[in-house]
Amino acid sequence: MIKSEELFLKAKKISENSYAPYSNFPVGACCLFDDGKIYEGVNVENVSYGLTLCAERNALSTAATEGKKEGLIAIAVYSPKQKMCIPCGACLQWMAEFRSKSTDVKIILEDYDGKIKEYTLKDFLPHTFKFD
Ligand code: THU
Repeated sequence: MIKSEELFLKAKKISENSYAPYSNFPVGACCLFDDGKIYEGVNVENVSYGLTLCAERNALSTAATEGKKEGLIAIAVYSPKQKMCIPCGACLQWMAEFRSKSTDVKIILEDYDGKIKEYTLKDFLPHTFKFD
């Protein structure tokens, strides 16, 4: 199974494809599912600012397009503009939607000291919306 560092490097590399002419804040995300499959995404902005798509949700949309419904086990997020680029609330809720039922989702970020650090979805979103 791919290591956190490799997932992080993929997020970093793909961030070069970010389309962020308005914020000038590129983001790359790379997510890993329990079958070993990897999906990447970048933020894509629009002149109508509210239409912007975050990198994490773009990666997860691609996973869903490929047929994924659950099994997300890790996601790396990178921005050259921000160490500890913590995913926004909407992206955390999206991660919860696709998470593995047997393990928490690892969130891999670059720490303030430049080291790669692992958090979990529960660290940032201890409770999620749901209806039964
Ligand atoms: N952004 C992401 O891609 N992911 C997040 O979790 C939060 C923010 C993007 C959206 C926008 O293009 C830029 O970062 C600045 O907000």
